[in-house]
Amino acid sequence: MTERTVSITRTEPAAPTKPGAVGTSHVRLEGREKVTGAARYAADIPFEGLAHGSVVLSTVASGRIRSLGTDAVLAMPGVIGVVSHANAPRLNPEAGLFGPDGSLQLLQDNSVPHVGRAIALVVAKTLEQARAAADAMEVTYDEEPHDTAFTVDHEGAYSPGPGADNGDVDAEIAAAPAVIDRRYTTPEQHHSAMEPHASMARWENGRLEVFDSNQGVHLVAKVLADLFGLDEKLVRVRSEHVGGGFGGKGVGQQLVLAVMAATLFERPVRVVLTRHQVFSMTSLRPATEQRIRLGADSGGRLRAIDHESTNFTSTIHQYVERNTEITHMMYAADAIRTRLQVVRLNVPTPGWMRGPGAAPGAFALESALDELAEELGIDPVELRLRNEPKAGPVSGKPFSSRNLVDCLTEGARRFGWAERDPRPGVRREGRWLLGTGVGAGAYGAGSLPSSASITAEVGGRYTVGVAAADIGTGARTALALVAADELGVPPERVTIRIADSDLGPAWFAGGSKGTASWAWAITEAAADLRKKLNDPDGIPELPVTGRADTTASIGALQAQERQSHGAQFAEVAVDTTTGEVRVRRMLGMFAAGRVVNPLTTRSQLVGGMTMGLSMALHEEAARDGVSGGQVNADFAGYHVAAHADVPEIEADWVTDHDPSNPAGIKGVGEVGIVGTAAAIANAVWHATGVRHRSLPIRLDRVLLGR
Ligand code: MOS
Repeated sequence: MTERTVSITRTEPAAPTKPGAVGTSHVRLEGREKVTGAARYAADIPFEGLAHGSVVLSTVASGRIRSLGTDAVLAMPGVIGVVSHANAPRLNPEAGLFGPDGSLQLLQDNSVPHVGRAIALVVAKTLEQARAAADAMEVTYDEEPHDTAFTVDHEGAYSPGPGADNGDVDAEIAAAPAVIDRRYTTPEQHHSAMEPHASMARWENGRLEVFDSNQGVHLVAKVLADLFGLDEKLVRVRSEHVGGGFGGKGVGQQLVLAVMAATLFERPVRVVLTRHQVFSMTSLRPATEQRIRLGADSGGRLRAIDHESTNFTSTIHQYVERNTEITHMMYAADAIRTRLQVVRLNVPTPGWMRGPGAAPGAFALESALDELAEELGIDPVELRLRNEPKAGPVSGKPFSSRNLVDCLTEGARRFGWAERDPRPGVRREGRWLLGTGVGAGAYGAGSLPSSASITAEVGGRYTVGVAAADIGTGARTALALVAADELGVPPERVTIRIADSDLGPAWFAGGSKGTASWAWAITEAAADLRKKLNDPDGIPELPVTGRADTTASIGALQAQERQSHGAQFAEVAVDTTTGEVRVRRMLGMFAAGRVVNPLTTRSQLVGGMTMGLSMALHEEAARDGVSGGQVNADFAGYHVAAHADVPEIEADWVTDHDPSNPAGIKGVGEVGIVGTAAAIANAVWHATGVRHRSLPIRLDRVLLGR
C-alpha cells in the first residue's frame, strides 16, 4: 500500500490549528489520483502469475444440480481449473458478519436456493478465457417448485422477534377523532455501486493476502478466517480505494470463491463480478409492505402509532428490514405499537442498503403523517412540530442531542414553505402540475470499538494508522483532519494509512458509525502519544508510537438515544400527458453533530437525497414468477437516477452538539436518504391530488392515478 502524504487545498478560509482543520472544507486527499485514473481499485492491481475466475450462475430458482460439464470446460483454452461443490474447500457454517450467514456457504453441496446463485468458478489464464469457459459450462438440474412472489399473508410468514408495545394502540385509535389506516409498498432495490464487487486472493509466505472491494477490512478478515478455519493473524485484507458500497460490500461472495481458487490452484486468483452478477451475488434491499395506523386528536397531537412491516428474505439466511425502528425515533404518541414479519422466498439474500429499515420505514411513516395533515387541515411541518418528543418515543431515554425542530423550521424558512397553498392539484404551468412536500428522518448514530496508532517521526511528521474504509465518502480526509487537530499540527504534517487489516481492529464503514468510531480511536491514540512524548524521565528518541483501542471507553455509554436527524423539502412538476415526475429542487436541513469536513459532508447528504429521489421515482427490481429470476438485472432495465433526473439539491445543517463522543461526531452517510422519498411522494400528492403509496412513482402509476 502506498502511504500518502496529506496535501490540502483549502476551499474555505484556513483557521489556526487546534482546533482548526476540523470544520473547514478540504478536498479529498486522494482526489487527484481518482480523477486522473491513478488510484488503483481492487481489480486494478497487477500480480505475477495472476489467474482469473469467472462465475457460473444457477438458472433455476430451486432444486439440485444433477450434473456440471466440468470435463469439457477443463479442455478449453487457458482453463486452469473449476471450483464446484465437487472439490470446494469445506467452510465453517457458523461464520458470518453477525452470526451464521448461509449466503456465504458457497459450493458446499449441490442445492440451488435461487436464480443467480454461484454454482461454480472457472479459473483461466486470461479473463476472456475464463468468461468463455464459464459461459460454455453445461449444467443440468433436478428442479423443485419455487416461490418468488412476495405477499404479507404468505404461508410461513413469521415474526423475527418482539416489537414495541407502549400503551394501548387500539383503545387510543378507537377514541381518536382523526384516524389514518394505510398500506405502503416499497420494491426490491439494488445498491448499484459504481465499482462492481472484485477480489484478488493469494497465499504469500503462509499468509492469505486479499485485495478486495469492501466496507471494512478487519471484519472481512475476521469472517474469512472463521469461514476457512484460519488463525486471524494469517489473513490480511486490504482495500485502499472502494468505488461505492451503500451497505452492499460486506464479505463478498466473489471473495470466498477467489480464496477457494487460490487455495486449490496455488496461485493468485482475481474474481470480478459482471454488472449482471452483482444483482444476484451481492445483497439487495428487500421488497416491503407496511401498514400504518395513526390516531390523533383534532389539534394533531398523536394518540397512537401502529406500524407493521413485512419484508422478504432468502431461504438460506434471515435478514430483517427493520422498517419500524423509525417509529421508535420520530414522534411522541400516547401509544406506539410496532411489528415486523419476514417471508422466505427463492431469492438472493437481502441485506443492509443505505438507510436500512429507516429509508423504506420513513417512506411509510412520513407519507402517513402527510395524509394525517391533509385530513386535519394542519400544515405538515406544523404537525411534526406538535409531535416532537422530549425523549425516545419508545425507550424513554434522553436524546444525546436532537434538533429536528431546527431542521424543520430553518428548512421551511429557506425553502419558502410559508407561501405554500395547501390545496392539492391547483398549480398549473402548461401541461405540468406543481407541488411541494416535506419529509423528515433520523438514523442511528454512535461509536463502536476501533483501534488506531499514531507515530511521531523525526522532522515533525506523524503517521496515523487506522483500519478505516473510504468507500468514496471522504473518510480518509476527515480522519486526517481529526488527527491534525488532536496533534495540534497542520494537516500537511499528517500521513494517514487506512484499509489494511494489519492496522488492527476497527469498525467498518457502516451504520453511519465509521467516522465517529475511528475518530474516537485516533483521539485516544493521540492522547497516548502525547503522554509518551512528555515522558518525565526525558524526551524519548523518535519514532514514538501512541496506540488506542476504544473497546473499554465506548462500552460505558449506551443509555441514550443517539441519532442524526433531518428534514427534506421537495418541489416537483408532474407531466399530465406522460405521467413523468420531475423533481425541480430539493433542500435538506440536518442535525448531524460536529461536521468534520463541510465539503464531503455536503456530498454525503446530497448523495443520500439523490438516492432517495432515485428510490422515489426509478428503482425497482422486477422478478419473473415463472423463472424466478430478476428480469432487469442490468443498468438498461434497473433505472437509477442519472444526471438529467437530478436537480439542484441543497444540503445544509443546523448546530448540533453531541457530547457523547470526544469529537462530537454523528454520522451523515444514511440520514440524507431517510425521509426523501416521502417528501417527493407528498409533493406529487400536492401537485396532483393523488396519493402514491407504492414506490417507485412510475409514469404508469401516475397516469392511472394509483
Ligand atoms: Mo450502511 S447500509 O450501514 O453501509
